[in-house]
Amino acid sequence: MIKLAVLGYGNVGSGVVEVIEKNKDEISKKANAELSVKYILDIRKFPGDPHEDRIINDFEQILNDPEIQIICETMGGINPAYDFTKRALLLGKSVCTSNKELVADHGPELLKIADEKKCNYLFEASVGGGIPIIRPLNYSLTAEKIDEIIGILNGTTNFILSKMEKEGAGFADVLKEAQDLGFAEQDPAADIEGHDACRKLAILSSLMTTNNVNYKHIYTEGITKITAEDFTYANAINKTIKLLAMSKYDNQGNFYACVAPFMLSKEHPLYFVNGVYNGIYVHGNMLGYSMYYGKGAGKLPTASAVVSDVVDCARHLGKTIMCFWDKEDVTVAPFENRVGQFFVRIAGTPENIRSAGQFFTGLTAVPPVISGEYAFISAGLSEAEFAEKVKLLPGGIISRIRIA
Ligand code: HSE
Repeated sequence: MIKLAVLGYGNVGSGVVEVIEKNKDEISKKANAELSVKYILDIRKFPGDPHEDRIINDFEQILNDPEIQIICETMGGINPAYDFTKRALLLGKSVCTSNKELVADHGPELLKIADEKKCNYLFEASVGGGIPIIRPLNYSLTAEKIDEIIGILNGTTNFILSKMEKEGAGFADVLKEAQDLGFAEQDPAADIEGHDACRKLAILSSLMTTNNVNYKHIYTEGITKITAEDFTYANAINKTIKLLAMSKYDNQGNFYACVAPFMLSKEHPLYFVNGVYNGIYVHGNMLGYSMYYGKGAGKLPTASAVVSDVVDCARHLGKTIMCFWDKEDVTVAPFENRVGQFFVRIAGTPENIRSAGQFFTGLTAVPPVISGEYAFISAGLSEAEFAEKVKLLPGGIISRIRIA
């Protein structure tokens, strides 16, 4: 029998307890031992909860109990999760987490402690909810030089954008629905401003490069400026709009990383990733592309990924599972050097249209779908060049969205 503790009895933590109980037989077989949740840590009270007898509010009780070998950290946030995780690992207790913020911020340090103490710090649930993506990067693709990752990594924003597109729904209503369904972060800005996707991209990029990609160095733009009109244009040109997280080495070996809304065409493999689903498209120099798809948020999908890590820990007690993530920071190329095309909306005055043609050489006009406006897709140019050219337009722009 292996005894566990679950830190945080919220959406994911309660899911972890549920998964362990519902799939008891399968899990015991695969873990080669029976798993039992001995403690659930939460400062809140849960009167009448079937697990009320195991809910405690003192972490020291877990730390000082030698029976506890594996801890599921599903609290989220940096503090006190960082302190709890570090102290548990220092005592040789393995930690399985869904906490992308903590993994992105302190991953290399916590992995090193786990390695020294012959235990594990596993984080399959931190990216892509229930989708296996950490394990493929750490195990299955070890013969590859991975040179590109493009992902839809945030279920909430994908849910919002999909509903805006399909139902013409308003932003605030759909956000509320995502919150009610348990997809959204406590602070909605983490989802809609792209911070959550940024942390997840930092984790994937670190595994891709085997060094540390600091999330603070990733250019991040959210979806708050995307409007129903943008979708009208996207639809007219057979495209959709998605919040993409991208990491890529260019031909010169420069490493780029960004999170931003992009327009993508029906041919793009991520075009059909809708609702709360996430999709991650990975390019390796030998394999070519492989894609990972599934529910990117929600109680049971995320809890299932945490429990898969628990099983891995149970199978490797006293041994550290391989993970390639060193502490040296990767140099992220300045975002202003990124080259790509832009979809642009401007006021349709003759002077603006003339200037657009003059400064954005090689542009392609987009069918007029909103009266009084002119829209076009630029030729490929750098972010810096684009910003300079926008300054030359007498009326400025209404909006712009990058093209994937
Ligand atoms: N708020 C996150 C999302 C939860 O919507 O993807 C899963 O990490």
